[in-house]
Amino acid sequence: MESCASVFTIKSNMRGVPAAPNFSMKSSSSSLSFKPISKKLEKAEQVGKKIPFESIKAAFATLVNAFVNSAFKFGENQMILQGNFAPVDEIGEAVVISNIEGQIPMNFPEGVYIRNGPNFMNKNRTVAKSLLGTVKMLWVQGEGMLHATYFEKNQGRNWKVSYKNRYLEADTIEIEKKNKSSFLPTIYGHPPAVLASVFLNNIRFGKTNKDNGNTSIFQHGKKVYTVAEDHLPYEINIANLDTYGSWDINGTWNRPFTSHPKVAPQTGELVIMGSDVKKPYYVLGVISADGRKLIHKADLKFERPVLIHELGVTEQYNIIMQYPLEFGMQKLWETSKFIHFEKDKESKIGVMPRYGDAESIIWFQVQNHCTFHLINSFEDGDEVVVRGCRTTGSFIPGPSYKTDEYQWYQEHTSTLALNQKVLIRPWTA
Ligand SMILES: [Fe+2]
Repeated sequence: MESCASVFTIKSNMRGVPAAPNFSMKSSSSSLSFKPISKKLEKAEQVGKKIPFESIKAAFATLVNAFVNSAFKFGENQMILQGNFAPVDEIGEAVVISNIEGQIPMNFPEGVYIRNGPNFMNKNRTVAKSLLGTVKMLWVQGEGMLHATYFEKNQGRNWKVSYKNRYLEADTIEIEKKNKSSFLPTIYGHPPAVLASVFLNNIRFGKTNKDNGNTSIFQHGKKVYTVAEDHLPYEINIANLDTYGSWDINGTWNRPFTSHPKVAPQTGELVIMGSDVKKPYYVLGVISADGRKLIHKADLKFERPVLIHELGVTEQYNIIMQYPLEFGMQKLWETSKFIHFEKDKESKIGVMPRYGDAESIIWFQVQNHCTFHLINSFEDGDEVVVRGCRTTGSFIPGPSYKTDEYQWYQEHTSTLALNQKVLIRPWTA
């Protein structure tokens, strides 16, 4: 896999693009491929009224967990537990930082700088081996840890800087706290073992992966959220890092949610999307500026599941990325990888009126690429300019499970750094 990076610019003539919104509110498909067996038992209890459901559920959970713990041998994936990836402990109460290099300007605003990132809670279960093969957690799959640095002025004169960290209390965190019943790795490893892990996670927990909320933090409607792109965002309290719960926009969005939503210029609306392994593969939404309502939702009718990380906005348009980073169980079956970059398939960039639909997108065919992050997009007269970081391959999910991981990461990370210097160039389509 190559990994050269470059900055690109797409300039497209938008004269004559229909701006009239097709305003529809389609309901989202949120059904899971599997239902946890506990749910089925719950239904059986409602029908029969005689099954001691709690006892059966507890016995079943104990049985399945015992099976998992006997069928899998667990260990540590050192690749994701050292250096900059090494997890840290929660420190409890905020601590005052006394050792500060330099000086904080007095006109610097008071407030909090907050970030998140993956921080594995169960280091000893980041690898699982069984008769079917080995599965490993990827570095992006650690539980979300919030890190906050608070800047306050004592009586308006001296700076007081303090730090606090805390795990995001996502819906699945209690499962991980028990350790011996935690989620099995599901993205990276020998295909039969990945399949078994997906199946076991779903019958135990009703979902394939835990909610990590480890990728980005954003603010909307005077609230702050933390998110990872395969589940709903979680609202947090930035003063004490409490977790309030997930945000489904009053029940109107129950599917993946981009890690990088965008605030629309002028209106302050939040433009979101979610790419999923099941239909509809890509849905775009627009949330009101106050965060109370989903005012537009459109299935963009992608033909296959592709892992798209973000989108762009201009004054009138949404910028839709479509590149062949395919994912899902079918991909695992075809290529032995749950996420796979198809270097010979097409890439395109779509320009869509803010409240448009699949039919109102104008697509621009571009050189095959993978662009996880956009830098900016804007209108310039009749043109729409999109700038982003283009690579000719994908760093995710990493090396083939047959490859020496250490060597692969060594080669690809150093190549990336070199190419960033050499290959940065404007690119026009
Ligand atoms: Fe990102």
